[in-house]
Amino acid sequence: MKFEILNSSVTESNTDSICIPYYKNNDKNTDLNSANKSIDNILNDLEKRKQISSNIGAITNIYTLNKLNSKQLILVGMGDEKDLNYEKIRKASGTLGRFLNTMKNNSTSIIIPGAGNDNLEFNETVDAISQGLMLGTYKYDKFKTKKTPNTLSEINLINSSNNTKVSNTYNFEKIVNESNSINLVRNLINEPPNYMNPDELENIAKDIVQNSELNLSVLNVKEMEELGMEVILGVGQGSKTDPKMIIINYNGDKDNKNNNIAVIGKGITFDSGGLNLKPGNSMRTMKTDMSGSAIVLGVMKAVAHQKPKKNVMGILAVAENMPGGNAQRPGDVVRAMNGKTVEIGNTDAEGRLVLSDALSYAVDKGINKIIDIATLTGAISIALGNEYTGLFGNDQKFINEFLSCAENTGEKFWQLPVDDNYSKLYKNSIADIENVGGREAGSITGAMIIGEFAGKSSWIHLDIASTGTSPKDDGYNPKGPTGVSVRTILNLLKNS
Ligand code: BES
Ligand code: MN
Ligand code: ZN
Repeated sequence: MKFEILNSSVTESNTDSICIPYYKNNDKNTDLNSANKSIDNILNDLEKRKQISSNIGAITNIYTLNKLNSKQLILVGMGDEKDLNYEKIRKASGTLGRFLNTMKNNSTSIIIPGAGNDNLEFNETVDAISQGLMLGTYKYDKFKTKKTPNTLSEINLINSSNNTKVSNTYNFEKIVNESNSINLVRNLINEPPNYMNPDELENIAKDIVQNSELNLSVLNVKEMEELGMEVILGVGQGSKTDPKMIIINYNGDKDNKNNNIAVIGKGITFDSGGLNLKPGNSMRTMKTDMSGSAIVLGVMKAVAHQKPKKNVMGILAVAENMPGGNAQRPGDVVRAMNGKTVEIGNTDAEGRLVLSDALSYAVDKGINKIIDIATLTGAISIALGNEYTGLFGNDQKFINEFLSCAENTGEKFWQLPVDDNYSKLYKNSIADIENVGGREAGSITGAMIIGEFAGKSSWIHLDIASTGTSPKDDGYNPKGPTGVSVRTILNLLKNS
């Protein structure tokens, strides 16, 4: 996709389509008026018959019969203009992008919305449109023998109004890189599990660090044994492909070693459940169980480009959870790098296990702040459905900081409690703790078991088991992996 900002107008634009924002209680903005005039006031009739919707992303497609330079006039629902925000623009743009491809458009002109809304900055508005288009038109067709590639390639963003705050310093590079990073995350999650195994994740990490300021180190079985990481080793021992810890360092504040943060991802390239084998339906989607790790890779790729003034350690806790002959058993006891012992109550609660050694490692390296991202529990979808990512943590100040960084990305997080009274649910008579706490409060005990390994660090856990994948095309999230939390984490790295 090639983006350009033009000072132009509805009538001048000469592309396959011209797209105009359509607001609720439309008092006919200038662009709409001039379009309407050119097409013999057809819009009056359509409006009278209530055939144009202003719902976010609603599309009304009108053929202009050569009365405009563009062949199609497309009205894009934008809700109430005074309530417009970047998230709504990003969503509507995503839906619009898919529609334009369905229409086989090669080029389009889009009137930049928000001229009548003083809360919207020009640069952020352009970011939201272009990101919405890039994320919304994402496709994974690697294994299709007949591909139908997107047609849309030329996008003119039209600055038509005098009251928009124009910036002549705008550069698409940052938003394009960030969107590509998120689409890379989606590719990795979509990759079939016979391709995406621990070794392949390492290859991808190697690609990402190439020609960048990022440094890669990989802990294989031998190194993990030396560090006493029995817990992640236990999860991986039933698979033909060995587990590993993949660490990517970015030193953006070399003079201030304490200005650091670790971003840690669950990287189960396939979760069969292990000996506590999942039933078929539950296992069906378990190639997505490395989403947390994919997100960490996406964050690090964008970090290399955005260069925040912060030391960032990305850690991927990678294993394949399989029931092979050497698989770990319920009742096994393993010792984490920080010395804590864990009795395996259920081999399917493996995410918290691989993360325990990853957090221990980060703490050992002197990391002060930790964010872990994991498709951790089915229970989180019972609590929050597909709308909100579950958020847990041990430091309210850090949590508030994170939540405020989420506000302008539009990504939604909901804090659930971490409370010592729940810890009795996973206390154990044989070892220090068990890896499961029973049915009640399943997402909370899962989170708290990870928290047991955070030491004195400020820690946030994101349970993306239900938001990591979108069940249907929805704004800038096509059906499939979303890459949720990449944008909020980047915002935090930039601002905190
Ligand atoms: N990867 C799953 C969680 C999951 C479930 C992610 C559905 C996405 C969709 C995780 O490893 C798991 O199996 N969790 C168990 C925990 C239980 C054994 C305590 C679960 O949620 O049932
Ligand atoms: Mn599992
Ligand atoms: Zn899992």
